[in-house]
Amino acid sequence: MMLHVPEILSADEVRQMRTALDAADWVDGRQTVGDQGARVKHNRQLPEHSAVARELGARILAALARNPLFFAAALPLRFVPPLFNRYAGGEHYGFHIDGSVRALPGSGEQLRTDLSCTLFLGHPEDYDGGELEVVDTYGTHEVKLPAGDLILYPSTSLHRVQPVTRGERVCSFFWLQSMIRDDGRRSMLFELDQTIQKLRARIGDAEETVALTGHYHNLLRMWSEV
Ligand code: NI
Repeated sequence: MMLHVPEILSADEVRQMRTALDAADWVDGRQTVGDQGARVKHNRQLPEHSAVARELGARILAALARNPLFFAAALPLRFVPPLFNRYAGGEHYGFHIDGSVRALPGSGEQLRTDLSCTLFLGHPEDYDGGELEVVDTYGTHEVKLPAGDLILYPSTSLHRVQPVTRGERVCSFFWLQSMIRDDGRRSMLFELDQTIQKLRARIGDAEETVALTGHYHNLLRMWSEV
């Protein structure tokens, strides 16, 4: 399931991040990718361990923790600390699938990438191109979102970033391992959760909404890997 999660960051938060990012030192994006990716990746990134990346990444994770829609859709267990990339002057990233397992910096542990996230940190009218294209069984989806908005998609998806032909595209991107490994089960839980929220808004905590909430938690208990 792909999901657009609006307003992860406020306009003020985006502005502050851009000021810090525009002043930072960027490196070749091929530093964080395997062989297949390196052949098609043409962009720049903040070094993974830079102080700016770590500080802004922590702010993004805090913003995600405050967002109920993101939580319901992703059911996150663990995150790879957010990274940051920048495309300009025709830079692009050809078709690839993100690596399935990533090391968690500093912990010696590894994480399975279930979901990939891109958080847009620039206004769409400030650059041309730079669409994220995600391919799934329903076709190809083009994504270019307002600053502060996020797209969530299964890490099993083939995807690419179109060349940026004017201005600069600045984004944060990261991966997470979900409590629910299977995308179909996770999507069902999300739809159930959203339906319960709507029902509760309409009829309150009636016998039926309490029962459905119980079923939601029992399914989560049955399927989760926590
Ligand atoms: Ni990717």
